[in-house]
Amino acid sequence: MDIYRIKGGGALSGEVKISGAKNAALPIIVASLLADGETTLKNIPDLKDIRTMLEVIQCLGAEYDFNTEKNTLRIRISSIKNAELPYELVKTMRASYYVMGPLLARTGEADVSLPGGCAIGERPMDIHLSGFEALGAEISLEHGYVKARTSSLRGSEFKMRAVSVGATANLMMAAVLTKGKTVLENCAMEPDIVDLGNFLMKMGAKISGLGTERIEIEGVKKLDPVTYTIIPDRIEAGTYLIASAATRGSVTITGAMPEHVGACMSALSEMGFTIESGRDWVSIRPSKALKGTVIRTMPYPGFPTDLQAPIMALATIIPGINVVIETIFERRFTHVAELRRMGADITVEGSVVIIKGVKKLMSAPVMMSDLRAGAALVVAALAAQGETEIRRIYHCDRGYERLDEKLTLLGAAITRVKGGGL
Ligand code: EPZ
Repeated sequence: MDIYRIKGGGALSGEVKISGAKNAALPIIVASLLADGETTLKNIPDLKDIRTMLEVIQCLGAEYDFNTEKNTLRIRISSIKNAELPYELVKTMRASYYVMGPLLARTGEADVSLPGGCAIGERPMDIHLSGFEALGAEISLEHGYVKARTSSLRGSEFKMRAVSVGATANLMMAAVLTKGKTVLENCAMEPDIVDLGNFLMKMGAKISGLGTERIEIEGVKKLDPVTYTIIPDRIEAGTYLIASAATRGSVTITGAMPEHVGACMSALSEMGFTIESGRDWVSIRPSKALKGTVIRTMPYPGFPTDLQAPIMALATIIPGINVVIETIFERRFTHVAELRRMGADITVEGSVVIIKGVKKLMSAPVMMSDLRAGAALVVAALAAQGETEIRRIYHCDRGYERLDEKLTLLGAAITRVKGGGL
């Protein structure tokens, strides 16, 4: 397996262009199953998770052609040939369960292997399933598969018991072709959901309330394939700002939507970094007076759980005390033990993490355990004294496009060693 070798200590500087948003692209790729014909998606990042989702839709009968130079994806649907998604695919990526909404809407059936727990928590899918039931599907669990059946879905009102990005997306995709009016309450307001909604509306769906807690959908008979450009990735954007901060560098991210990165920019400003932004860029510079702050992860527009690990890596070298409270996933702290190996002073009490800033982190051999924990280790290694070897970097390949190339352009001493370790 490949590893990263990172010689830390140098300040990052320069400009980095942000790729398309993974978590918008994934449901949008699946939503293309809702229309026969050829859909063209632009700004699709070349990531492992995107490749997995392409296997998923191929398994259901789609054909595709992904131009990775141009980040353009063409998807052709003539018919849905299969309504069953096997364990092999779902265990590789839980977001595969997004196919349930479109499959139910188009074929009245969906058999999807129930995803197990994962490195960041148990992650149940009860909200998706009770939402499908509210729309008229019968759900059963057989041999590890969720089986959903319906003679026809019907518009309905459904309030989600907790805010869920995945359930909001899945139910929207089920409802757009469902007769009557569906009202979804307690919806996720993430930009990824708004992007999915905009894509569906371009296809002909009737949706109102995107970006609010209440989304109303008037079912239509048919959707048409379209050409659509995915929004920039706010988590990638935040990660580069945080990496720059950790190295006390001066970096400008371009091709971004600053309005999506607000909570991260506020947290970095509170720590004392100087942030400026324009229409599609954000820049960060260090300042002399840095201090600790309190960060609480929340659904959008709050501070994203996907940046909790990277900002914790930064917090380890901010003078004073930082407090991080994780409210979305119950045990998204696998990076803590690795950061401690690099000299961080971190105490975990339930969902509250107290970080006492140290002067310097030291290099150590470390291992990624999930995508964002991996990003945290890269941030720590860039700031640490000495050369850090990071293993299991396939986690970062799932969600950061050309991470080592982009960091190299910013002046980082990072090498990807092919087959360098287990
Ligand atoms: C999405 O996951 C993202 N994944 C995650 O990004 C992100 O961390 C998460 O939203 C929160 O922002 C994709 O978009 C593909 P949720 P999702 O349903 O949809 C609980 C990354 O690193 N819940 O909003 O799975 C759940 O356990 C990833 O890019 C239920 O209890 O998240 C969690 O505590 C990882 N029952 C909370 O809700 C359900 O049926 C929010 O989860 C569904 C969720």
